[in-house]
Amino acid sequence: MQVMLQKPNATDAETVAAIERECFRLPWTEKMIRSAIGRTDFCGVIAFADGKPFGYVLGTQLFEDAELLRIAVLPDFRGQGLGKELLDEFLRQAKRRGAEKVFLEVRVSNLPAITLYQSRGFECLRVREKYYENVEDALEMKKNL
Ligand SMILES: CC(C)(COP(=O)(O)OP(=O)(O)OC[C@H]1O[C@@H](n2cnc3c(N)ncnc32)[C@H](O)[C@@H]1OP(=O)(O)O)[C@@H](O)C(=O)NCCC(=O)NCCS
Repeated sequence: MQVMLQKPNATDAETVAAIERECFRLPWTEKMIRSAIGRTDFCGVIAFADGKPFGYVLGTQLFEDAELLRIAVLPDFRGQGLGKELLDEFLRQAKRRGAEKVFLEVRVSNLPAITLYQSRGFECLRVREKYYENVEDALEMKKNL
């Protein structure tokens, strides 16, 4: 399997939105994705395996702070280290552009994602109560680059 990572452009918003719908209960819309990708502080990639888009990581980087907003791998592609590859690419990009810290929020129930972040050195800063839909708590996590 040949994996290729690319900087997404506006035409990739539809592809990312389709993956969102398979990976999240409350997916970002195509419009939200186009807006995220179009930001001047955008940081992230879309990933292809043998030409098929299977995942992405979206975030921002402004001066010393980066924020990881979304990371997803299609169900059929999970458990093969691709999420780690995407996260590593985000961390490299952010660092190259001058970030010193990366922040993210994750649902307390999202064990796969929390384990992935911990495996890359993210630590829990605090719990944000009822952060999601006024129901579920979020862990705010941070990693120094
Ligand atoms: C989180 C996600 C991106 C991981 O993708 P992935 O390609 O399966 O991840 P990897 O194969 O690279 O696994 C990396 C590490 O994550 C952890 N992990 C992955 N899946 C896991 C699971 N089901 N349970 C526990 N830990 C898991 C492990 O630490 C794993 O490392 P290991 O294989 O050396 O033990 C994927 O599950 C996903 O798209 N989830 C839905 C979207 C989402 O919740 N995104 C995060 C919130 S923005």
